[in-house]
Amino acid sequence: MKEKMPKITVAIDGPAASGKSTVAGILAERLGYLYFDTGVMYRAVTWAALARGIPIEDERAITRLAEELRIEVLPPTVDDGRQYTVLADGQDITWKIREAQVNRYVSPVSAYKGVRRALTLQQRRIGAPGGVIMVGRDIGTVVLPEAQVKIYLDASLEERTRRRYLEYRQRGILRPFREVKEELVQRDRIDSTREMAPLRPAEDAVIVDSTCVPIDKVVRRIERVIRQALEQVVGG
Ligand code: CDP
Repeated sequence: MKEKMPKITVAIDGPAASGKSTVAGILAERLGYLYFDTGVMYRAVTWAALARGIPIEDERAITRLAEELRIEVLPPTVDDGRQYTVLADGQDITWKIREAQVNRYVSPVSAYKGVRRALTLQQRRIGAPGGVIMVGRDIGTVVLPEAQVKIYLDASLEERTRRRYLEYRQRGILRPFREVKEELVQRDRIDSTREMAPLRPAEDAVIVDSTCVPIDKVVRRIERVIRQALEQVVGG
């Protein structure tokens, strides 16, 4: 499979904590594809704005930051459970971009048009060669609308809150369940109502609901969709 098949482009979108990164990481490994999580870029800009004391309301300054910040996503450089290493202007911010402050402000920052323009451009460059599984909110609709496979991964709010709550706990952070839930509700609301590239399934997306479905089953389901698309490409 890895050598003989041509490489296609896979877009996975969906709301916060719907399991996109876990599923995409496993699939990319299996298929020998590049896994690219676009959320990391929006988080990096948000983190850098907070670190530099740029007010989140200052759209112009934040847009300039998004245009200038050098974001790199590399294979893990430290064996601490990370899926990849994220650098911003050379600084390792892999875990910093998961902090509560970033979660709080990432959706307002992501709604700025100039920020989206700058990051979308970089994401298209990364996706252009194919052989990539790109994850985000607008990959199938805006970033890579030509992707041969589009998945919209969803799960109930309760289930997504449970997953995020456990993720925090694994990292030694104890947050009230209700607070985690409220954060997801707020982020989904901003992400799906913004003017530019709102979160929604592409018309040709396969919708996969992962509520109460074990991860390996979700992976198998999506892998089947990818294999069918590959067969179509090979069959011409
Ligand atoms: O991991 P989680 O699902 O919590 O979020 P993420 O994928 O890291 O994305 C963080 C935030 O970045 C989202 O809530 C969106 O506001 C923004 N984002 C976006 O606007 N477009 C993307 N393609 C990816 C992320």
